[in-house]
Amino acid sequence: MSAPVPMIAGNWKMHGTAAALAEAQQVAGADLPAGVRVALCPPATLVERMSRTLQGGPVLVGGQDCHPEPQGAHTGDVSAEMLAEAGAKLVILGHSERRAGYGESDEVVAAKVAAALRAALEPVVCVGETLAEREGGKTLDVVTWQVRRSLPEALSARPFTVAYEPVWAIGSGLTPSLGDIEEVHAAIRETLVEKFGEAGARTAILYGGSVKPANAREILALPEVGGALVGGASLKASDFLGIIGAAGAR
Ligand code: PGA
Repeated sequence: MSAPVPMIAGNWKMHGTAAALAEAQQVAGADLPAGVRVALCPPATLVERMSRTLQGGPVLVGGQDCHPEPQGAHTGDVSAEMLAEAGAKLVILGHSERRAGYGESDEVVAAKVAAALRAALEPVVCVGETLAEREGGKTLDVVTWQVRRSLPEALSARPFTVAYEPVWAIGSGLTPSLGDIEEVHAAIRETLVEKFGEAGARTAILYGGSVKPANAREILALPEVGGALVGGASLKASDFLGIIGAAGAR
């Protein structure tokens, strides 16, 4: 059984105009460690330009969300097919900022995952508990429930990635203890193997939430942590490269 291939993915969120492409170029032009997949997910407006700029290089470009339908009367939305045509290879789905800010249920996330597969995009599916859920001792139940319901059966035959992102750790500078991260990742792995068999054992499980060059090494060294989904620290090439370097040193 092959081990998951680690990935460091940057989520630029609603940051970045054309000037920011220089940061992406700096990442792609650096001496990246072998055996680590690197991805950048800029705002939808930059997906095509970033894909052209980085074409043929080691950095994958991804979207941050997609609509379940291939096209239609959905003002403001972008389909998986559109992202793929723009050069995206993957797409973040079910980010907590979508789940909380736009009321996306696990069912909606699963429909978006199916859309990503239809367009041959690799889904990066986010799960994570709120602070109230953690304080209520519900973390493992919430996270494994989200994994079961957000990931459709069809994934077993396709590459996909899961990202564990505690909602309270995103953009806050706070992170769970290493023991807590390890415990949740182990529970996610168990759920993935239960649901997808061998494919579930091969899937990289990223950690996300206030990952920085200073804490990346200890987080990435944990069992079942197969990389990181990085928000704020992916905006600056030097910070992002520090995290990628930590993944290479695992
Ligand atoms: P952060 O965001 O690294 O800024 O905490 C992570 C994310 O939301 O994916």
